[in-house]
Amino acid sequence: MIYHQAIIVGGGLAGLRAAIELNRWGIDTAIISKVHPLRSHTVAAQGGINVAIGNNPLAASDSPETHAFDTIKGSDYLADQGAVLKMCRMGPGLVYEMEHWGCPFSRNDEGRIAQRPFGGADFPRTCYAADRTGHALLNTIFERAVYHEIAIYSEYLVTSLALDDGVCQGLIALDLKSGMLVPFSSDAVIFATGGAGRLYGRSTNALINTGIGTAIPYRAGVPLKDMEFIQFHPTTLFGTNILVSEGARGEGAYLLNKSGERFLADYEDSREKMELSPRDIVARNMVREMEKGGGFEGGHLHLDLRHLGKQKIEERLPGIRELSMKFAGIDPEMEPIPVQPGQHYTMGGIDTDAEGKTVVKGFFAAGECACVSVHGANRLGGNSILEALVFGAIAGEGAASYIEGKEKMREEGMVLDSLKREEEEIKNLMASAGKERVPDLWEGINRVMDDNVGIFREERSLKEGLDKVRELKERSKALALSYKGKSFNYELYWGLELQGSLDVAEAVILGALERRESRGSHFRRDYPVRNDGSFLKHSIVKYTEEEPSLIYRDVDIILFEPKERRY
Ligand code: FUM
Repeated sequence: MIYHQAIIVGGGLAGLRAAIELNRWGIDTAIISKVHPLRSHTVAAQGGINVAIGNNPLAASDSPETHAFDTIKGSDYLADQGAVLKMCRMGPGLVYEMEHWGCPFSRNDEGRIAQRPFGGADFPRTCYAADRTGHALLNTIFERAVYHEIAIYSEYLVTSLALDDGVCQGLIALDLKSGMLVPFSSDAVIFATGGAGRLYGRSTNALINTGIGTAIPYRAGVPLKDMEFIQFHPTTLFGTNILVSEGARGEGAYLLNKSGERFLADYEDSREKMELSPRDIVARNMVREMEKGGGFEGGHLHLDLRHLGKQKIEERLPGIRELSMKFAGIDPEMEPIPVQPGQHYTMGGIDTDAEGKTVVKGFFAAGECACVSVHGANRLGGNSILEALVFGAIAGEGAASYIEGKEKMREEGMVLDSLKREEEEIKNLMASAGKERVPDLWEGINRVMDDNVGIFREERSLKEGLDKVRELKERSKALALSYKGKSFNYELYWGLELQGSLDVAEAVILGALERRESRGSHFRRDYPVRNDGSFLKHSIVKYTEEEPSLIYRDVDIILFEPKERRY
């Protein structure tokens, strides 16, 4: 049995920031991650991080409160306003801390952190490091974790939590190298495992973002919140769905239809802000334009950077130029980039309060796997890594203070019981003679989510999607592995993740089916209008062995009354 006072699952920005906070409190802390922390999905964040520090001459009168208002309006008023204010107020200090730790942000002429415009924001407040902001932040914070000698268990897949009477006692993880299950005992656990984007086939997310980190606490009794809100990024590279940063539109790139027109002017909700309208609006109008026949063959539009000029493209957007050249054979200095919307972010997640706490004592969550909620029904670009930084620090502090005040003794027996259950499950899976194969079932999840739970939704296709996911759940009982080796058995790894990901997919569809209105990223063709009377509420899904149950909870509205117009 391995023991650490605090264990963090996930080595991205939220997890590493939580670890540093715990370390500040003198708490022995470990990170468990299924990949090396520098391969966490944070590394893929491109365009930037929002904070109201007024470094851009056009943002002199920006403030955390204005940032909060933009975030709440962008969320279609579903975000909890106290939590949003907290994030917007804490953000500047934490970004300066990253700067002082050596993060190589791009600079303006005065040598201050440069800020660019992003969608849905009234001021240019997105700090950036060219278009590799996540890479810069992740490397900087990883160096701090190394400096503080935080223990890191890389390539360990967490398979379950060990709970005793509503108190978290630790967890079980599969050491991918040895193929052995390892019991970890701990006084507090923080999940910072990222999103569930890979439920979809057409996604900007890394293959590691399966949703297992959401599924494990869900199956252990922690509810999920607002799972129906899935963000589709307007500009992903046609074919591969690699992210093409909103930073490009922030720098002035145009979205064009096949006639070379800036078609967003034709739609009422994007006429004013055009390419810098909130993401949900841009993505929907791109689909509408293609449905009208304005798209290119195969279903894409053009993102045109050419007028920005060679110098700006090479200085501020070198990453997307490189990706376009390598993966689409297009040099954006010479030709427009073929783009289509693709799944990008899970606004919902593990139900936490604004301190990162959950219903299970000693179990916290932060970052994309959690739903505080600060993004509500639609996240603004640039607020994701901000959330990871702020709520990583908050969850770290919350866990530290919980550990210091903890009354109940550790119960290693519960961890050993969980270990036995997991060993049995893996033994059965290894011995199974069933006829179902891991890749087929994963392909099934991706197809259902792409086809039935996309940008536009309606009752018939959602019901069909739910039936199909339940069919896949049934089929997964006959799962068998063709490779029985122990070391780096990725078939086993994906097989273990499958069941939980199916449960998460079911929660997404159930939330979408029951929310009979359109809000933010959730657009129902059969209920095209926002309905505050019935649905200005968070949806809370609870796992049961039979079917999940769904209830609603009020939104925290303390400053800004919902307005109908949000563009
Ligand atoms: O487009 C982007 O660079 C993505 C940013 C974000 O999702 O926050």
